[in-house]
Amino acid sequence: MRIGIIGAGSMARALGTGWAAAGHDIAIGARDPEQAAGAAAHITGAAGRPAALGAEVRAVSIAEAAAFGEVVLLALPVLALTEVLRELGAHLTGRTVIDCTNAYSPDSFAPGSTGFTLTEPAVAERISTMAPGSQVVKAFNLCAAEVWESADRDFDGRPLAVPLCGDDPAAVDRVATLAEDLKLQPIRAGGLAQARYLEATSAFVVGLWFAGHDARAVFPPLENAFAVPDGE
Ligand SMILES: NC(=O)c1ccc[n+]([C@@H]2O[C@H](COP(=O)([O-])OP(=O)(O)OC[C@H]3O[C@@H](n4cnc5c(N)ncnc54)[C@H](OP(=O)(O)O)[C@@H]3O)[C@@H](O)[C@H]2O)c1
Repeated sequence: MRIGIIGAGSMARALGTGWAAAGHDIAIGARDPEQAAGAAAHITGAAGRPAALGAEVRAVSIAEAAAFGEVVLLALPVLALTEVLRELGAHLTGRTVIDCTNAYSPDSFAPGSTGFTLTEPAVAERISTMAPGSQVVKAFNLCAAEVWESADRDFDGRPLAVPLCGDDPAAVDRVATLAEDLKLQPIRAGGLAQARYLEATSAFVVGLWFAGHDARAVFPPLENAFAVPDGE
């Protein structure tokens, strides 16, 4: 697959490394060409010689990354989206756009809180409005970049799962394939209207982690998720 990555920071490098290692061609675009080149070098170095797989990793401009990708990852702060999408929105037509963003704001309502609120309630839906010809899929926003870049993402004997929210089944399938390429288990988690809950979940769960709680301990396994029906 041809993947355009917009932004050259932690998420761009983490996801780009895994996808290059899986043999995908990557064009990474940033407003600073040196930063794009640094990210491309990081991906090429960390991905274990993607050229050997036939994969190409190149540093380009933001517009070139959008034009290159069948799939385009927006690896940007939420505050940058308006500026970038105002320029690019129309050029994302026909692309599968992966939104991994989080709109965190410190929870200023609770003194001493390490939690977050959201600066806006539904980023993925806004991206879809600003790039109306694209198919947006929310994914990869729940875990830290270090987790996505790590080689070991099996916990308690299970692969880490990635919820995907999007309205276009073909786009969701494409992102599911990219998750599997990272040895992750994709979970088709509903349409784009569900993405706002993924965004809120991220803010809540990261708040728990920052406070030193094990967010995984909050939920029972599936087989224990509901009361046993009468008669069983
Ligand atoms: N890091 C994580 O662990 C993590 C995990 C899950 C989700 N996320 C989300 O993923 C997104 C990216 O996070 P990140 O950690 O990769 O961020 P990052 O390391 O700070 O990188 C952000 C990138 O966006 C670029 N950028 C910022 N403002 C821009 C603008 N106005 N126009 C064009 N480019 C701009 C930066 O370039 P400059 O250097 O030129 O500013 C940089 O290349 C965020 O929404 C974040 O909430 C992050």
